[in-house]
This record gives sequence, C-alpha cells and structure tokens, in this order.
Amino acid sequence: DQDQSALFNAEIRAAIDALIAKYPPEWKQSAVMPALTLLQDSNGGWLTTELMDALAVYLDMPEVAVYEVATFYGMYDLTPQGRHKVCVCNSISCLLNGSEELIEHIEHKYGVKPGETTADGRFTFKEVECLGACRHAPAVLLDKTYHEKLSPESLDRLIDGLE
Ligand code: FES
Repeated sequence: DQDQSALFNAEIRAAIDALIAKYPPEWKQSAVMPALTLLQDSNGGWLTTELMDALAVYLDMPEVAVYEVATFYGMYDLTPQGRHKVCVCNSISCLLNGSEELIEHIEHKYGVKPGETTADGRFTFKEVECLGACRHAPAVLLDKTYHEKLSPESLDRLIDGLE
C-alpha cells in the first residue's frame, strides 16, 4: 500500500532502494537488516511499528517477518532510546574479565538498569551478547564504536565525553 511507504521521505527511499539494488529482484527481502538499521538511525535510534510495517510493504514481505528480525537481533530497539547507546557485553569472556564490574558501576553511578535510559536522556544502557571482541574483553559498544579492555574509570571517561 502506497500510503504506508509514504512514511519514508525521498532520501530514505533512495537509501533503501540502493540497498535493494544490491540483490537480485527476487531477493529484495535480503535488504531487511540494513534497511532496519537505516530506519533506526534516522529515527533517533529506535524502530516504531509504523516504520516496520512500512518496510514490510516496501520489501513485499509479511509484517511479522520484519518484526521477527527486529526482535531477534540485539542491535534493534523497539522503544525510545537515549541520545547514545552504551552496550556492555555480558557473554562469557567479558564476564570473566570484568564486565560485571562495568555493569554494576553503570547501575550505581548513573542510576540505570539494563534497558533503561538515564534521567537526562544522555544514554540508554544495554547488556548485549558477545560483540566479537572477546580477545580484548571486556568490550563495550558505544553507539557504533567498539571499545575494548575497559575499566570502570575508562568507561567513565567515554561516557563523560558524550553530549
Ligand atoms: Fe564479550 Fe565476546 S564475550 S566480546
């Protein structure tokens, strides 16, 4: 339905079209993950049902299939987010190397539990699965940048630098 994909402005449409063009026409659904990332980035870091529905129409796929992707992968958020995302890995290598200490530190110092946003809206705190940086544990993904071998102090310095 044309009305729903009218949610996308010309710039977004062009960007999604460019993603779709990377695949053969019968495989255009393959663009779903990068398209969700693009929509999330353009919407303050989270996906609304309307955006997911519009993408389903645009990619000719069932809405539920888009929701499944968006809920399965930890990088998508379906609720409003802070201006930044601080994602602390809580998988085994990081746990063994101090991520628990980072998590407790954030909870105490900034007053947020995993999934919550600081009162000033500065960041949303997330616990995430292995970030693929296990050799340099504990790892944190701050927005789109990986940081490794963090201590509570070095994590604080990163957070202090956020607007
Ligand atoms: Fe943390 Fe792999 S276990 S990055």
